[in-house]
Amino acid sequence: MQTSKPLTDKVTWVGKVDWDLVKFHGEEFSTLKGSSYNSYLIRDEKTALIDTVWLPYDKEFVSNLKQEIALSEIDYIVINHGEVDHSGALPELLREIPDTPIYCTKNGVRSLKGHYHEDWNFVPVQTGDTLELGETTLTFVEAPMLHWPDTMFTYMDSEKILFSNDAFGQHYATESLYNDRVDQCELYEEALKYYANILTPFSAMVKRKIREVLDLNLPLEMICTSHGVIWKNDPMQIVNQYLEWADNYQENQISIVYDTMWNGTRRMAEAIAAGIQKADSSVTVKLFNAGKEDKNDIVTALFKSKAVLMGSSTVNNRYLSAIGGLLEMVKGMKFKDKKAAAFGSYGWSGEAVKLLSEDLTQSGFTLVNDGLKTMWAPDEDALDACAAYGQRFVESL
Ligand code: FEO
Repeated sequence: MQTSKPLTDKVTWVGKVDWDLVKFHGEEFSTLKGSSYNSYLIRDEKTALIDTVWLPYDKEFVSNLKQEIALSEIDYIVINHGEVDHSGALPELLREIPDTPIYCTKNGVRSLKGHYHEDWNFVPVQTGDTLELGETTLTFVEAPMLHWPDTMFTYMDSEKILFSNDAFGQHYATESLYNDRVDQCELYEEALKYYANILTPFSAMVKRKIREVLDLNLPLEMICTSHGVIWKNDPMQIVNQYLEWADNYQENQISIVYDTMWNGTRRMAEAIAAGIQKADSSVTVKLFNAGKEDKNDIVTALFKSKAVLMGSSTVNNRYLSAIGGLLEMVKGMKFKDKKAAAFGSYGWSGEAVKLLSEDLTQSGFTLVNDGLKTMWAPDEDALDACAAYGQRFVESL
């Protein structure tokens, strides 16, 4: 069965839609709407393949590719980024066409050699280097830290396509290919989740690189990403959205994230939320139990928030492990311009609030107070104190 899909006279999608994927990067990223590994075949006088697919689909990929083209007719392979979801089928492919040149950045050579330990025919390229295919010229633009040091974009002048690899992507399975043929809410949510969880730490570089590419004034018909939809209808919408997200994005939202042993900290969280909402009905307040909620959804909520309250019971003189795991992720996000405070109930020693406050500071949040502790299960007075704490918190922002 042929699975390839023509995009233009010269470009054919030859990737893999992975409806089955629920976790990515090990257990680090939930992909509840699946994903795709987009690979593109460009046919001109010469033929180039842009990226491949993830390793479990290598044989399927090569078999499908053979139905589209004799492999010996592929003159060049371009690998925009060496992570295995895009390079995973290279060993299988290169078993059949071993001498085919692989165009990638210098760091791309390092990552591909690091993954596969093969001395393939690498052609390192840098920004401004070109590859002539006939009527088409491919121009390479290094895009380090969008999101790996090896990442680059490839621009195809004849069809006005930017092959952006991970940038502008989403973990979103669709058979429909294009951005205007899918549920727009789902697309926005998945693009946002992708940015929040993968690109947030590199926002300064995202802004710089986008402005650099915009300054080139390249005509743009499509952005062909390596995951999810192809941006064909108003492709600049996602570029402009990235500029907004990369600019220390926040909405009028406060997220309360907690874990709880016997519901004391949960009841504190709910009372604090009520206090915030009573003091400022315009703010959106969201609560997340870190022990139950999807951690990537929590990171996305924190990305959207102007302030965060984090709570935990104290156990063994520490906070609970679900909060610990989440904080480890949050530290890596390098969020900026967000306020925070801690809270928690305890029975004996109550260290969690102090530890949470320290870790929130280390994670880049600005603490607005020393936190709120409640001994044992909160009674009515304690819940009133939580509501007052919520009110003071929102008023201090
Ligand atoms: Fe989709 Fe960084 O790999």
